[in-house]
Amino acid sequence: MWKTIIEPFKIKTVEPLGFTAEAEREAVLREACYNVFNIPADKVLIDLLTDSGTSAMSAEQWAAVMRGDESYAGARSFFTFESAVRRLTGYRHVLPVHQGRAAERILFSVVGGPGKTVISNSHFDTTRANAEASGCEALDLPVPGALDFDTPADFKGDIDLKALEDAIRRIGTPNIPMIVMTLTNNSLGGQPVSMANLREVSRIALHYGIPVIIDAARFAENAFFIKRREPGFSTRKVPEIASEMFSTASGCMMSSKKDAFANIGGFLALNDSEWAKKAREILILGEGFPTYGGLAGRDLEAVARGLEEVLEEQYLTYRIRSIEYLAEGLRRAGVPIVEPPGGHAVYVNVKKFLPHIPPDGYPGQSLVCELYRTAGIRAVEIGSLMFGKNQDGRFVPAPMELVRLAVPRRVYTQSHIDFVIEVFGEIARRKEALGPMRLLEGSQRLTHFTAKLMPEPA
Ligand code: F0G
Repeated sequence: MWKTIIEPFKIKTVEPLGFTAEAEREAVLREACYNVFNIPADKVLIDLLTDSGTSAMSAEQWAAVMRGDESYAGARSFFTFESAVRRLTGYRHVLPVHQGRAAERILFSVVGGPGKTVISNSHFDTTRANAEASGCEALDLPVPGALDFDTPADFKGDIDLKALEDAIRRIGTPNIPMIVMTLTNNSLGGQPVSMANLREVSRIALHYGIPVIIDAARFAENAFFIKRREPGFSTRKVPEIASEMFSTASGCMMSSKKDAFANIGGFLALNDSEWAKKAREILILGEGFPTYGGLAGRDLEAVARGLEEVLEEQYLTYRIRSIEYLAEGLRRAGVPIVEPPGGHAVYVNVKKFLPHIPPDGYPGQSLVCELYRTAGIRAVEIGSLMFGKNQDGRFVPAPMELVRLAVPRRVYTQSHIDFVIEVFGEIARRKEALGPMRLLEGSQRLTHFTAKLMPEPA
């Protein structure tokens, strides 16, 4: 058996990278108010801001795009899409939406609202924001080990089962419209959820009569981790494991911008006909007719094809190995990361990397800015800028200070990643010189997208 795992594709179309001079990058940062979401993408050399909508589609996906049927109602592309989603998930009702958060908004409009609590292993930030916008509380119950970033474990994405049952008894079944299982857990390191945990959640939920809904953004990476790590799954086929994961729930929300390689798209898939009926009404109001949702026929085709490609074992072997490769390089460079690395990203543990910057100095954002300043690398802060709060004029930090290096699928080669590792090595040697940031302007929800900051004067 060969030791080297290779990219299971060759490259047909290429795009130039955005090379810039250091002085220019300082000006770009200033202009962007030290918020990298404001940086024009052609000023970015290696873009690790997100793996969402940034993946490379295959020749077959582009061919499917050309086959897209753009009929307003009953387009052939919808039926292709619907059967791909049904084949994968087994759920009856399939509603296409323009991206994951549209599915969240629709579902929370149907089942959320004041007095309700939704429980999750961890809500992603848009999921939380949509829950809260509906008036509903979003309760995260990750396993205790999930916040211990130094100690590796196989399934740190699991929900805390005891805490789940306690919460259900405390809050009361009528006030809990659903349990959301996020696969993989993006907010806490891209960590997978085990099948054992999904089965237990399903059992508990059935006992109390609460529906389970999967946030399926990275379902294929989760399924592959189960195959690799969970006893009894090593000889099972990944598509079979994925189907079994979906069978533990009665619906899902999916952003197809991740594990379907699509540049846009998503869906809400549900077994419950009453929920589906209400959801369809909201879909028509905000997204479009139920056979296209928020998408063009060509997008539906790209997603349908992507949902199959993402489950190919050679692809997933390469995908998970490429993330591990980045993690190994960062460890060698002396950069503490969330252990083990996730399925789509490596998360730098900034609390440990920059202990001299307190949470209200946004150490994660300081590192994000330094990565851009030094080499045009764009990453994202997952810490007090994203999750910190201002309560009655008092700063409440996030429990973690992380910087996520999310790797777009099939986009960067090993030498791009070697370059990122080299840059980290250089920053690590002078990390004490990195200073705090000051938040000048935020907003009530999803602050990190719109925040304005500046480096704290030395
Ligand atoms: N759920 C998870 C777990 C996500 O990671 C995301 C998006 C969404 C839902 C929302 O989907 O973007 O299509 O509306 N995550 C992106 C990221 C933005 O960078 O991690 P969307």
